[in-house]
Amino acid sequence: MRTAHRIANLPPYLFAEIDRKKAEKVAQGVDVISLGIGDPDTPTPEHIVNALCSAAHNPANHQYPSYVGAPRYREACAEWMDRRFRVAVDPGSEVLAMIGSKEGIAHLFTAFVDPGDYTLVPGVGYPVYHTGGIMAGGLTHWMPMNAGNGWLADFSSTPADVLRRAKMMFLSYPNNPSSAIADDDYFDRAIEFARANDLLLIHDNAYSEIGFDGYRPPSFLQRPGAKDVAIELFSCSKAYNMTGWRVAFAAGNPQAIKALGTVKSNIDSGVFTAVQDAAIEALTGPQDSIKALCDLYQRRRDLVMSALPSAGLAAEMPKGTIYVWAKVPEGHSSAGFASELLDKVGVIVAPGNAYGPDGEGYIRISLTTPDDRLEEAIERIKSL
Ligand SMILES: Cc1ncc(COP(=O)(O)O)c(C=O)c1O
Repeated sequence: MRTAHRIANLPPYLFAEIDRKKAEKVAQGVDVISLGIGDPDTPTPEHIVNALCSAAHNPANHQYPSYVGAPRYREACAEWMDRRFRVAVDPGSEVLAMIGSKEGIAHLFTAFVDPGDYTLVPGVGYPVYHTGGIMAGGLTHWMPMNAGNGWLADFSSTPADVLRRAKMMFLSYPNNPSSAIADDDYFDRAIEFARANDLLLIHDNAYSEIGFDGYRPPSFLQRPGAKDVAIELFSCSKAYNMTGWRVAFAAGNPQAIKALGTVKSNIDSGVFTAVQDAAIEALTGPQDSIKALCDLYQRRRDLVMSALPSAGLAAEMPKGTIYVWAKVPEGHSSAGFASELLDKVGVIVAPGNAYGPDGEGYIRISLTTPDDRLEEAIERIKSL
């Protein structure tokens, strides 16, 4: 049996690899604390779970779902965009249901990238922006990102020969893993750049609801002209603690929405309609869980930030997301420091280089661990 080259070319999926190492340690009897994956530790709000329970009893929901999302789901997404951001999108042609945003990101490559085409990918970002390209036979151009440029991916330095063969560009703010946020001026320049170079710009807004100190992340589609060149991805995963439910949506440019929908209709058969009904409840029901979640992560952020200096680590104060992006002590690499933490004190963190070349020298600490375990992990890191 011979697998395709695209499999051989894929790096191991970061969190699958971390899970494997964790299982090894646990089997050796180590009490491992994971600050690795960003997976909310608190449950989905009760009213959303109840909505799923009653929707699951509706026999109409037991049949194949709509490929693009039930009309009532797409309308709820459009209403939410209007209420939350004052952004108007047409639910019929400018909204598409996704089985989590990971699925949409991966399939965008099938819709837009031919072998040899480039995608402009942030120097640190969600790994699928890069691996999705490998699977489509495409190439990645890493846009430089560092503390010096505020972790705002530098698209302007992209060489002309890359741009001639580039089809898509990913941005994502609030940013995973750096937690950086972007201002309107940066977004406006990105829109002009995408327009000038005929690129589809994808703004991945996975952390749209997670902001601190009064900061509420904006929508990219609020910027003038954004819909001419861009789609934006929203997910129920982090906003409503629904990572396991696999429900998200894309909104924006109708040509791109149609292209992604065409690919998806040939690959998957949509999101279970009862899950879409639960997502409607999430988007249209009470929103107080979001404030409670932001308060929880803000408290944990403060806990981690106050302890980092005594652990020899430094980080910028995050304004959003569920991560602290910390510089490792002098003389350590990301992977080396992460391995040392697991081997010596049983704490898992994500090595920064796994998010792209500009992550070398950093680790990502996830705030999705109960306070007592988080405190214990910090004490262990300090003891190193
Ligand atoms: C930036 C970013 N995009 C997309 C995803 C995938 O989210 P979903 O659960 O919607 O597939 C994640 C998950 O961590 C993420 O951090």
